Amino acid sequence: MLGLKAQTPETWAHIVVQDLETFLTDHAYNEIKAAQSAMAVINHRPNNVEFVNTMSALAIEEMQHFEMVYERIQELNLKLGQESQNTYAMQLRKFFPRTKDREEKFLQKLMLSSLMEARSCERFSILIPVIKESYPELAGFYEDLFVSEARHYRVFLQYARKFGGKERIDKIWDELLDYEAELINGLGKNALVHG
Ligand SMILES: [Fe+2]
Ligand SMILES: [Fe+2]
Repeated sequence: MLGLKAQTPETWAHIVVQDLETFLTDHAYNEIKAAQSAMAVINHRPNNVEFVNTMSALAIEEMQHFEMVYERIQELNLKLGQESQNTYAMQLRKFFPRTKDREEKFLQKLMLSSLMEARSCERFSILIPVIKESYPELAGFYEDLFVSEARHYRVFLQYARKFGGKERIDKIWDELLDYEAELINGLGKNALVHG
């Protein structure tokens, strides 16, 4: 469904359950970053009403997710910690050669956002059955988020195809998935959404 080429091991989910504060903190900041990414691309198609409305709504939805994660943190008597570096996102960006071409940067941002949404979904799907045992209410929460983030994954990829041409984007996307699979196979050892 998500088309990813590597799967997160279940051991990662057990690491998360043992350090929920780190995980929920990381998740909360990921929602803020997702909102920022959606806002940042508006400037690339300011005349496209549908695109501006979609990205604006998406940014608001991501901030609502932040609020929901923050609520869970408080309900569990945990603390929102400090933002940690997202090594995964930094490494993922390195797939693309540096460019000053504004349009290329735009397409790269759309593809990177799509992929990060897809990986979040996959991570949630691995986490749900494991977290169900000790935190059933969190399992339900992640089931709901899975649906939203899966939609975001499709939205970003559809726009990349629309603005970059389906054939061209599909070719890059396939190579990006190979690169991401190798990257993710070296991760999964920290209580982080993409770590
Ligand atoms: Fe979100
Ligand atoms: Fe999202």
